[in-house]
Amino acid sequence: MEFFETLHARQSVRAYQARALEPEKIEAILRAANAAPSAGNKQAYQIFAVQARAALQKLGDGRTYFDVLPLALVFCAHPARSGERFGERGAKFYCVQDATIACAYAQLAATALGLASVWLGRFDEELVCRAIGAGDDLLPIAILAIGYAAETPERKPRRTLDDLVKHV
Ligand SMILES: Cc1cc2nc3c(=O)[nH]c(=O)nc-3n(C[C@H](O)[C@H](O)[C@H](O)COP(=O)(O)O)c2cc1C
Repeated sequence: MEFFETLHARQSVRAYQARALEPEKIEAILRAANAAPSAGNKQAYQIFAVQARAALQKLGDGRTYFDVLPLALVFCAHPARSGERFGERGAKFYCVQDATIACAYAQLAATALGLASVWLGRFDEELVCRAIGAGDDLLPIAILAIGYAAETPERKPRRTLDDLVKHV
């Protein structure tokens, strides 16, 4: 898919087919995340690729589409990894930005591969850490649910560029 076509094709999907993902698609998504920029190239985050049904159900925390979802990627910031190089700014901000942009790359890669996804930011951090076995050196930032769509939602509107952008 052409790049701008991919950007505009992406939309949040919250209903999925009970269909497995091809391993090469999973790898391509993870490679895309790994290509993202990061502060000082520290890549101060960890990705948990969750395919185990029991862990997915815990992560879903009542969201029924997690009962059939084939893959969730959990992006966790690693504050110490960025903090050791950049101090407080690294530990507070850069690691979060590193994890966030990697998730954005992964989401667009999934779209380009014909897959659907939704970015989840509302979750219980402790529950997520327990579900994936993350240590207390990691802070979960985003869960990216990925699979084959079972719905085509209406497109969400956006602010106009006039409203969004201040030209200085
Ligand atoms: C930081 C962030 C947090 C989000 N958290 C959630 C969430 O917890 N649950 C959910 O269903 N969607 C969540 N979304 C998806 C947004 O609701 C969605 O991107 C937005 O409504 C625009 O719709 P679109 O993605 O279809 O363009 C989140 C998106 C972002 C970027």
